[in-house]
Amino acid sequence: MDVEAKISELRSKIREADHAYYVDANPVLGDAAYDRLLSELVDLERQYPEFFDPNSPTVRVGGAPLDAFASQAHERPMLSLDNTYDHDDLQEWFDRVARSIGSEPSVHPEPHSLFGDQAVPDVLVALEPKVDGVAVSLRWERGKLVLALTRGDGVRGDDIVQQVRTIRNLPLVLSSAPEVLEVRGEIFMDDASFAHLNATRESAGLPLFANARNATAGTLKSLDPSVAAERQLRFVAHGLGVVSTELGSSWSDSRCRLEAFGIPVNGPSVLVRGASEAVSEIGRFDQLRHTLGYPTDGVVLRIDDFALQDQLGLTSRAPRWAIAWKFAAEQAPTRLLDVEWQVGKGGTLTPRATMAPVFLAGTTVQHASLHNIEEIERKDIRIGDTVLVEKAGEIIPQVVQPILAERTGLERPIVAPEVCPSCGQPLVRVGPKIYCINPSCPAQIREKLAWFAGRDQMDISGLGDKLVAQLVDAGLVNTFADLWRLDVQSLMGLEKVAEKSATSLIEAIDQARGQGLARVLSGLGIPQVGVVAARTLAEHFDDHHQLLAASAVDFEALPDFGEITAQLLWRWLHKQGGETVLSDLAEMGVDLRSVRAESSQLQSLADCVVVVTGTLPTLGRKDAEARLRELGATVTGSVSAKTTHLLAGEKAGSKLTKAQSLGVQVVNEAWLLAHLDTPSE
Ligand code: IVH
Repeated sequence: MDVEAKISELRSKIREADHAYYVDANPVLGDAAYDRLLSELVDLERQYPEFFDPNSPTVRVGGAPLDAFASQAHERPMLSLDNTYDHDDLQEWFDRVARSIGSEPSVHPEPHSLFGDQAVPDVLVALEPKVDGVAVSLRWERGKLVLALTRGDGVRGDDIVQQVRTIRNLPLVLSSAPEVLEVRGEIFMDDASFAHLNATRESAGLPLFANARNATAGTLKSLDPSVAAERQLRFVAHGLGVVSTELGSSWSDSRCRLEAFGIPVNGPSVLVRGASEAVSEIGRFDQLRHTLGYPTDGVVLRIDDFALQDQLGLTSRAPRWAIAWKFAAEQAPTRLLDVEWQVGKGGTLTPRATMAPVFLAGTTVQHASLHNIEEIERKDIRIGDTVLVEKAGEIIPQVVQPILAERTGLERPIVAPEVCPSCGQPLVRVGPKIYCINPSCPAQIREKLAWFAGRDQMDISGLGDKLVAQLVDAGLVNTFADLWRLDVQSLMGLEKVAEKSATSLIEAIDQARGQGLARVLSGLGIPQVGVVAARTLAEHFDDHHQLLAASAVDFEALPDFGEITAQLLWRWLHKQGGETVLSDLAEMGVDLRSVRAESSQLQSLADCVVVVTGTLPTLGRKDAEARLRELGATVTGSVSAKTTHLLAGEKAGSKLTKAQSLGVQVVNEAWLLAHLDTPSE
């Protein structure tokens, strides 16, 4: 088989497997087999760049970052939808539609009531979930995905096609589709991916996304498509733009055609006649929507028939033939039983409400955050109150307000504590915030140690919250360094700790000595210093001695370090005992050097976009690419105007010609090796 045919066979096998996995949820290939096909294709595409195709399944991993999004006009404007929240509004829409269609003698010569009790049987309204994501208009030309425009202002949008190409449930190539096919739909993040993203951000010390829609919008705004690739976005179609050949005479017909092309359409869809059928379907969907695994905030109702749609027409904002029924944020009343003040690892006290369990938006809720004392006072929330709790796409339920009509007079006000519930020391209040500033407060020590032992920090397996609490309560561990003073004997003195688990815990703690500076720093709970900032520090300072010798101004010069972070870090090191914490750890043999010796070179090729081609004298291609990435370079598979260097070996072929024609700098293996040897800083 010739190479071109082989490449095209691999592409279609991978596309089929993607479709089976992401659209049909019925995998036809195991992970290993899939990876084998993909890596075979990647290799062939690298070797034979002349067969490059922007819609190859290999682009799913995200290409080179863009400088900016190109904006472009929508051939047909992207409208929005009118909303309704209650039955009267909905009935009114049905009535209005009935009047407009009924008053059009050419189509319906007899005036009639469309949606009342004598609904005309052939007028159908299609209902489907309203997915809570980001709207996009996709355009395939001759079966190839060429454009993906955001809604923008409805008239012009940004082209995010590079980001969209990473969406795995979306076919990039269509067979037997119309010459021009514009499909509008929603890009969204499912519940599992959203939870995973926020969990990762939390452990990296990054701010969390309030809901999946914000996370999707944030992801699509990144100019680097690999961000979208990592975050596992999905797409569903909910309408059409320009099409060169009609797909059918109704939305439900067109949906079937889209589905046949492999384009995912929107979840459970039903056809109804009349307002009362619509209302009961909406009710059924409301019951079901939390089991779908992706965010929905309503139901979209539209006249199914395209001829009737045309007859109803559009306003400047929205079509008259469709309306969105929006679900109100879910709220439920329950009894506030108690408020507990929790001490965080930084000493902040947060009020946490315990309530009588209540079923809300798919889960049973028993706890909610009350934010801070000022919020409690402002809302006048009391223990014993019947309160309204809400879950509106956010992760943590909120107490909205007390229901005053239900007050009996027996409720107790919530008072700000004056002493720490854990250590009994007096607290400090700064505005709405309350802090325990006792450095040996057991609650803080427990929280700090649990964090320190966590997966993204020292990664000490077997040292979970429970054991940490036992160790602190027994007085065995008061500082981070105390962990390395533990022995099997003392652990066995704790309740439910057997010799075997004690031995393996000691081993795990011992091993954690070698985790290196970045992980240690991210584990210490230094204000504002999470995984990312800690990594930056370890990239710029070889060990804790250098760190201690640096000034706040030095810290401020680091990427993403503002003045406040820099000051807080310096103060932590020099005024809040940080120096002692570090030297204690060093004394226990904890390695406080940057693990990666090469880290100081990390940025040396940061602005380079490099393509590797041909046979290199000593390094394999993969190896060379890995080294380039270590040096901060972006490695891509094909030469373009963005390429800064072509690393060429023997038999470099067409990439070399292309690079020369574009004036791209051509370098050899020795150039790479030289960079590896000489740190730039
Ligand atoms: S139909 C003319 N169907 O919600 C627009 N829209 O708030 C016709 N949306 O602009 C759109 N799920 O971005 C339609 N099943 C669905 C939808 C849906 C989500 C979005 C869409 C729309 C917005 C209105």
